[in-house]
Amino acid sequence: MSHPVSQLWSGRFSEPVAERVQRYTASIGFDYRLAEFDIQGSLAHARMLTRQNILSADDLVAIERGLGEILAEIRAGHFEWKLELEDVHLNIERALTERVGDAGKRLHTGRSRNDQVATDVRLYLRHGLDRIQHALHACRSALLDLAERTAEVAMPGHTHLQVAQPVTFGHHMMAYFEMLSRDAGRLEDCRARMNRLPLGAAALAGTGYPIDREWVARELGFDGVCENSLDAVSDRDFAIEFCACASLVMTHFSRLAEELILWMNPRFGFIDVPDRFCTGSSIMPQKKNPDVPELMRGKTGRVHGHLLGLLVLMKGQPLAYNKDNQEDKEPLFDTVDTLLDTLEIAADMLAGIRVQPEAMLSALRQGHATATDLADYLVRKGLPFRDAHEVVARAVRLAEERGCELAQLALAELQAFSPLIGEEVYGVLSLSGSLHSRDHVGGTAPSQVRAAIARARVALARDAAD
Ligand code: ARG
Repeated sequence: MSHPVSQLWSGRFSEPVAERVQRYTASIGFDYRLAEFDIQGSLAHARMLTRQNILSADDLVAIERGLGEILAEIRAGHFEWKLELEDVHLNIERALTERVGDAGKRLHTGRSRNDQVATDVRLYLRHGLDRIQHALHACRSALLDLAERTAEVAMPGHTHLQVAQPVTFGHHMMAYFEMLSRDAGRLEDCRARMNRLPLGAAALAGTGYPIDREWVARELGFDGVCENSLDAVSDRDFAIEFCACASLVMTHFSRLAEELILWMNPRFGFIDVPDRFCTGSSIMPQKKNPDVPELMRGKTGRVHGHLLGLLVLMKGQPLAYNKDNQEDKEPLFDTVDTLLDTLEIAADMLAGIRVQPEAMLSALRQGHATATDLADYLVRKGLPFRDAHEVVARAVRLAEERGCELAQLALAELQAFSPLIGEEVYGVLSLSGSLHSRDHVGGTAPSQVRAAIARARVALARDAAD
């Protein structure tokens, strides 16, 4: 990236830009990633200009040929990006002019870099978002498969990270499926708002040429045009909205990652995560560290940071375009990259998780997880809930003193706390009794978990078809 070249806008200036300033203001170091989309947008713009008799058919042929060659060079990694040419737009335009002469100089008719970059970023993000949606779909599908395998596997459900009540592992996985499904919906909404064409807004006020914005919009797969030229060039809320959606997806994966880290700790031992997602220690030979989940949790912080960065970037900007907006790209690119990597790795990792039902059972046995079931049983026998709660609390205390489970207390001992207790109490106190009793939509009964999985499969297939 070098060679002194005069800036495309240098006519008005009496001295060259200082080298340090050039480096400070250039965006080519990162916005080269917009090249494919810049060329797509330029081709649509040039074709429209020709349809509207603003550009000759010969010029269009030259532009199409030139841009095609440049695209091939960029894809092959042979294109030389020049810092002096500031950004991806000016680099491509200069290369085009070098190839096809004046036709290249006519491409920018009726357009500004302001509406050009706004278009490029939307095209880039729409493409990224579609890949993200696809990877998210794979994660949701992996969760369903895991839930299906574990719909009957009892595990301790926690509140305050203390054993609370039995749930099935499948039910727990379906909680994450719900979160990710809302994420998919949010991303879809974000796409719909984003998918409007800024081109035609030119620098800020529109253009005097008889352009056809609707035609360009259709050509580029937009659902319509941005209605206001000032808004079209200065708005970046689509990028902020995307980062907000991405932040929530990452938050969900961060919570899941945190649970995986706990569950694969030998003190829990609830799951095994395949070795390819872990690393050893260079000094402690016994260790298997959950690096991938830890990084998922860690990278969530940087995505949240990008969201905040973009919000702060926008908050003081007067209408319309300001160079500040150039700072939108690195956080946005990094958010797309980080999210995509996270999702692709997560789908693979979820598919590889193996559960350890015995370890979950033994945790359940230590936690008096069916205490609430005993209270509910007493309520069904006519005791007010608060009194039932007190009876069970005293029974738990006795079991604790004995170092045993509630179900290991003798019937006579239980009856000493309440004469309402009968022989059938042992069924109530069993894990299976507890799980199967929660038999309503949203409950953890295995039949309900299976029904939820079946509904989810239908929803997932519908999402894939959209
Ligand atoms: N590189 C610039 C950006 O990313 C392109 C737009 C420049 N427009 C301008 N008026 N200087 O925002």
